[in-house]
Amino acid sequence: MSDLQAEISRRRTFAIISHPDAGKTTLTERLLRAGGAIQLAGNVRAKGERRRTRSDWMSIERERGISVVTSVMTFEYGGCVFNLLDTPGHEDFSEDTYRTLTAVDSAVMVIDAAKGIEDRTRKLFEICRLRDIPILTFINKMDREAQDPFALLDEVSSALALDTAPATWPVGRAATFAGTYDLRERRLRVAEELPQSDPRMVALGEELELVQAALPEFDKESFDAGHLTPVFFGSAMREIGVTDLLDALVSFGPPPRAQETDTRTVHADEQAMTALVFKIQANMDPNHRDRMAFARICSGRLQRGMRLRHVRTEKQFALHTPQFFFARDRQLAEEAFAGDVVGIPNHGTLRIGDTLTDGESLRFTGVPHFAPEILRRVRLDDAMKAKKLRQALHELAEEGVVQLFRPQDGSPAIVGVVGTLQLDVLQARLAAEYGVAIGFEAVPYSLARWIEGEKNAVAGFAASNRSAMADDLDGDPVFLAGSAFMMRRAAEMNTGLSFRDTKQIG
Ligand code: G4P
Repeated sequence: MSDLQAEISRRRTFAIISHPDAGKTTLTERLLRAGGAIQLAGNVRAKGERRRTRSDWMSIERERGISVVTSVMTFEYGGCVFNLLDTPGHEDFSEDTYRTLTAVDSAVMVIDAAKGIEDRTRKLFEICRLRDIPILTFINKMDREAQDPFALLDEVSSALALDTAPATWPVGRAATFAGTYDLRERRLRVAEELPQSDPRMVALGEELELVQAALPEFDKESFDAGHLTPVFFGSAMREIGVTDLLDALVSFGPPPRAQETDTRTVHADEQAMTALVFKIQANMDPNHRDRMAFARICSGRLQRGMRLRHVRTEKQFALHTPQFFFARDRQLAEEAFAGDVVGIPNHGTLRIGDTLTDGESLRFTGVPHFAPEILRRVRLDDAMKAKKLRQALHELAEEGVVQLFRPQDGSPAIVGVVGTLQLDVLQARLAAEYGVAIGFEAVPYSLARWIEGEKNAVAGFAASNRSAMADDLDGDPVFLAGSAFMMRRAAEMNTGLSFRDTKQIG
């Protein structure tokens, strides 16, 4: 194995998905601590941020905007380099989450042992399934009253139509939860030794017989294909089961996978460097108005000082200050390998979906925009600021805060979002960062669809529907319809055109 291959094969890039309150933050803290990335658990997020309400969300976002912990955390454990990507907790930011999940090789699904599969777990799981992302399941809060482990396994498989294989088994329950038994390694992991006569050990012996008789064994191939999830039991809070999970990621967690582009499949261990920008975050540093583009290296080795090809604009891009992010600080990345995620400071050159290479012209696919579910017109309070607003909306749309549609009839801009919280963020950021006060007005449209088809046909359609046509950020035509009925009618009457609810970026 070459040095390059060896480096790449020890990368583990993953995200944690869960319903709010299942324990994602606590588990993140414990994972970072196990990896030596933080001294004391509890540093990832201030306590007060826990109980987040809608009203205090904005200030939290501002606080977070200048923190470095939100997007990616890199740490080492067991000879592997882990990149843990954070996904926003609130469902209004689902587009962001979706894009983040395009940049991982596996996901850890955290489930509350008392509540089982919840709404948001299911939705996030479906996103992972679309991309066949291998999933490890962590059943958390076993130190409390919980459902029976057999019932939990059964629930995961039936609710998600996903095969399950227990990787560990809980020793004791609730207040007497003492540790885990590793079914693959046949090893106990308990804080203090338990005599064989301990009721928990007696129960374990009986349960293991049942497990062996009734439950499937772990199958690596099905796991890699995203059809089977190994299940771990634990308590993030009491730090039980956390190293089981990390050890499993080390031993069988998927290394960086191959990725599709418009021209060919790119394999992680190719010499040539390629990278994909999947997230933009502003205000990382309050003293500089720079934006951080988060790029996943898809193949090869990235070196500081490289001249990169920015495929969308066909310009050269000098990579002066790529950065790694740790739990509490960041560091210049002298080199990074496929699977790693680096931050690239820039002043608006880089956009979500952009491909960077060391020369080849190709574009990664599979980072979509989703048609927004809520459309609003932006009302400017001070007409003198029209130009500023225009630029600000453009920048914030590039960052992925909202989608921007410019009506072809010249009327004020329309913004589209998946969740209304995005509108609050837009309004607050326009005020705070650009000094522009805005409001929102209802529009007579409820749906936006990208139009694709032969050039003249698109132009003809646009000419006869001018008041319902807009251009998106890239200048691509979008049809705004008042209702699903009108959208269907437009599609029926224009069979040569496609009305799409997603658009590939890149
Ligand atoms: P989230 O990011 O998924 O929303 O969950 P988070 O880690 O914030 O955990 C939600 C609550 O569940 C927290 O309690 C946390 O302490 C608790 N918790 C997490 N893991 C475990 C566990 O293994 N066992 C038990 N018993 N509780 C756990 P909180 O009261 O909301 O916050 P705090 O006062 O503890 O900070």
